[in-house]
Amino acid sequence: MKRHLPDPEATDALAAELLRFLPADTAGWTLLLEGELGAGKSTFARALIASLGHDGPIPSPTYTLVEPYRLDDRSIYHVDLYRVSSEDELRFLGWHELEDGLRLVEWPDRAPGLSDAADLRIHLEYAGLARDAEITGLSPRGDALVKQWAASKPT
Ligand SMILES: Nc1ncnc2c1ncn2[C@@H]1O[C@H](COP(=O)(O)OP(=O)(O)OP(=O)(O)O)[C@@H](O)[C@H]1O
Ligand SMILES: [Mg+2]
Repeated sequence: MKRHLPDPEATDALAAELLRFLPADTAGWTLLLEGELGAGKSTFARALIASLGHDGPIPSPTYTLVEPYRLDDRSIYHVDLYRVSSEDELRFLGWHELEDGLRLVEWPDRAPGLSDAADLRIHLEYAGLARDAEITGLSPRGDALVKQWAASKPT
C-alpha cells in the first residue's frame, strides 16, 4: 500500500490511521521503520506513541537504543538500531526481552534478520520536500492488516 505524505502532519496522520487497524493486544508485534536519514521514521514513531496515549516527551532512542513506554496495558518499545552494526548486538540490547510489547524499530536494516520476525514494514522516502510511504505486510497477520487497511475508506 502506498501513500503520498505532503508534510509532517501527513506522516503523523498515517501513524494515527495505522492505530485503527492494530489489534488491542499488540504484544509481540514488530514494525520496521525504514528510510534514509531524515525520511521521517522518528516522526512516524512519535506520532504512533502519542496516538497510543503517551503524553510527554518522546526522546530519540539513538543512544539508549531502546525507549520503553507503558500505556494502559500495552508495552511499547521504540528502538533505534542506527548505531548497531550486527545482529549479535541485538542480543546485548535484550531484543528477546521486548517480546511482551509492540516494537517500533528505526534502522532495521542494521540487523537484516529482523525482517523474518517482523509484521509490518513502513518504508519512507523523499519525494522532493515531501515523502512517500509504502506499507508492506511481512507476516500473515501483517498482510491481513495491510489488506484491511487498503480496503478501508479514508477518514
Ligand atoms: N511527510 C513529510 N514531509 C515533509 N517533511 C517531513 C515529513 N515527515 C517528516 N518530515 C520531517 O523530516 C524531518 C526528519 O524527520 P525524522 O527525524 O522523523 O526522520 P528520521 O527518519 O527519524 O531521521 P533519522 O534517520 O535521523 O533518524 C523532520 O523535520 C520532520 O518534520
Ligand atoms: Mg530517527
